[in-house]
Amino acid sequence: MIKQPEFSLEPWSLRESDLRLDRLAQTESVFALSNGHIGWRGNLDEGEPHGLPGSYLNGVYEIRPLPFAEQIYGRPTTGQTVINVANGKLMRLFVDDEPFDVRYGRLVSHERVLDFRSGLLTRRAEWVSPAGASVRVASTRLVSFTNRAVAAISYEVEPVDQRLQISVQSELLVNEQLPASDGDPRAAAVLEAPLIAEFDSARDQVVILVHQTKVSGLRVGTAMDHHIDCPADVQTEARSFPDGGLVTASVVLEPGQKLRIIKFVAYGWSGARSLPGVRDQVWAALSGAKLAGWDGLVAGQRAYLDDFWDRADVEVDGDVEIQQAVRFGLFHVLQAGARGEDRPIPAKGLTGPGYDGHVFWDTESFVLPVLTFTAPDAAASALRWRQSTLPVARERAAHLGLQGSAFAWRTIAGQECSGYWPAGTAAFHINADIAHAVVRYVNATGDEEFERGPGMDLLVHTARLFRSLGHHDDKGQFHIDGVTGPDEYSAIADDNVYTNLMAQRNLAAAASVAAKYMDRARELGVSVEESASWRDAAGAMALPYDPVLGVHPQAARFTQHELWDFNATPTDNYPLLLHYPYFDLYRKQVVKQADLVFAMMLRSDAFTAEQKAANFDYYETITVRDSSLSASVQAVVAAEVGHLDLAFDYLGEAALMDLDDLEHNTRDGVHVASLAGTWMALVGGFGGLRLTEGVVSFAPRLPEGISRLVFSLLLRGRRLRVEVNHESASYQLIDGQPLDLIHHGEQLTVDATRPQERPIARLAPRPRPSQPAGRSPARRLTKQRHS
Ligand code: BGC
Repeated sequence: MIKQPEFSLEPWSLRESDLRLDRLAQTESVFALSNGHIGWRGNLDEGEPHGLPGSYLNGVYEIRPLPFAEQIYGRPTTGQTVINVANGKLMRLFVDDEPFDVRYGRLVSHERVLDFRSGLLTRRAEWVSPAGASVRVASTRLVSFTNRAVAAISYEVEPVDQRLQISVQSELLVNEQLPASDGDPRAAAVLEAPLIAEFDSARDQVVILVHQTKVSGLRVGTAMDHHIDCPADVQTEARSFPDGGLVTASVVLEPGQKLRIIKFVAYGWSGARSLPGVRDQVWAALSGAKLAGWDGLVAGQRAYLDDFWDRADVEVDGDVEIQQAVRFGLFHVLQAGARGEDRPIPAKGLTGPGYDGHVFWDTESFVLPVLTFTAPDAAASALRWRQSTLPVARERAAHLGLQGSAFAWRTIAGQECSGYWPAGTAAFHINADIAHAVVRYVNATGDEEFERGPGMDLLVHTARLFRSLGHHDDKGQFHIDGVTGPDEYSAIADDNVYTNLMAQRNLAAAASVAAKYMDRARELGVSVEESASWRDAAGAMALPYDPVLGVHPQAARFTQHELWDFNATPTDNYPLLLHYPYFDLYRKQVVKQADLVFAMMLRSDAFTAEQKAANFDYYETITVRDSSLSASVQAVVAAEVGHLDLAFDYLGEAALMDLDDLEHNTRDGVHVASLAGTWMALVGGFGGLRLTEGVVSFAPRLPEGISRLVFSLLLRGRRLRVEVNHESASYQLIDGQPLDLIHHGEQLTVDATRPQERPIARLAPRPRPSQPAGRSPARRLTKQRHS
């Protein structure tokens, strides 16, 4: 097991003061830089040693066969896998011909810092070569938010105490060797040499490469240029070859003299453009980067992030670890979505190849709630990407004998890539999750142009799917049978409450946009009868209830299943999916991740307070959190039903998922849903934010471990600041027209003149529910925290 890292606790940065080779792969993920278009893992500048080298471009993938012994109708036979594109991070250093390699010689000091406000990853190292030559290295790296196709590095080297010959090789490397996959189903397939060389050229300090993927036929261009600054004479040369290119700078330096190289790297790709088209595209991006210059790129990065933090920052007093973690999480969520521009937001962002680089419902259900209130354009862009895959989703639905759209459970370009249909195709709830994200976005922003266009396309086709997937029984009740809800330890169940409630909202929302935009409804072929049938189905949606236990079964008959024997399950056997067959998990009461509890969060209106409390306590005893998507949801609902300390513990788990490598797979990339979940747990849990039918309400209440919580939201063009302490909450409109909101059931109107303060009544604590043996979250109150 990886020993947990100890980053120092700082409010605005992540600092690692000591290089730990055994956790390189994990730190490469947490130190990854991305703008949603380019992703660079936090690999060391010299490339080796590495845990997992990684440079990704959103949307660049290769197609691979999904072999399966038996032919099954409707099962995809090919999948898509993110590929490692040209590594542009490489700066190889030679000190008197000895490669700078931290595994040899003596590493005197090594520090890496990711700064959430500047968006820069800096590294400082002092190293003594095996021959006794000492050098200091300082590098700063960025993936630009302003110049979307550009990443850049400033690399400095100086001798410590003697004259040294220094060579730096700035490199682009394609088809680099990757470590073999360890067989974890959550990791990625490793494709050998996925890129075919088409063009390479080197002149002066510029290298340009163009490659193509073999099967998916995508053309990828990479280019680099340099600015070299040194008081001594530097000799440079450039070379290119089919799978890479080098610019080498050699110089003799006296102590006190520095060689500084600024490297600009540009990436571009296309499934349609010609070789000259792609080549010129990266050339132009490179020229734009040089125009901005290093200082311009750094300043642009800062300005972009200042603007983001101004809208999105969350202040947490009382817990420095959570303060750092929520900013770390927001930074990665922004990185994942900022400049995707109508491309998907994968479960790992662009920080690693985990889950083959696929996008899941994680995007609409975890990432978009955060982006909708903090960077709404990025949320709209991710939904436009979904809309762009509608033709494929409609084809898939038709292939499955259904109407409307069946969006892929996991994909990069839109086609279903899950070869395991019980937890893939059958998880039809993803369609309702997409619809819900549309409704949330439109409610939060009032963006009617989006609603009329992409929003309506998505709502109508997903509603059609559910109307055709479900049926009315002889009493008129509408059932959706044989589907898989969020809990992947149950499958092909009837009337999954989560799916039914989300489909109900989906059907009703589609009917209401069809009534609002009649011209578009006609265009989409929605008749009066069809939208009436959506309303009927929504109105008659079945909602199973177990009157004996007084709880909602997650799906029909679920609470009558045998209980999983938790006491006989060794703690080493978690996650259960790696140790037990699905057939056994499916027929017992054991919950991988919040399902019914998630339904209570998203459809808060569909349950009474008593039902929420009873349901929450029941599902606590059987939920094992084998998915990183669970703790944040449990935090939100725990806070709502009055288990504030438990909610705080779950917040800690969501927040530290990657910083503490809780699932031991951060090496494959960060868990973007869990990072976004940190914000959800704070804002939705302790802030009690809910947005239903355009009404925004708060029910703030803090746990003992947090003394003050401040967050901001963008709501219909206004900026609202909410500040909460144990006694009261204050709502302040920073700008814009007066806003109506609800505080613990009381209606208020907030305007920009002064904040409105309201008291918070204390809640009588309820007995803490128990979790399966060994699966309780770590207690935060008792945890030792250092600063
Ligand atoms: C979870 C899914 C999730 C996927 C990607 C799985 O372990 O069960 O809900 O979408 O991981 O994060």
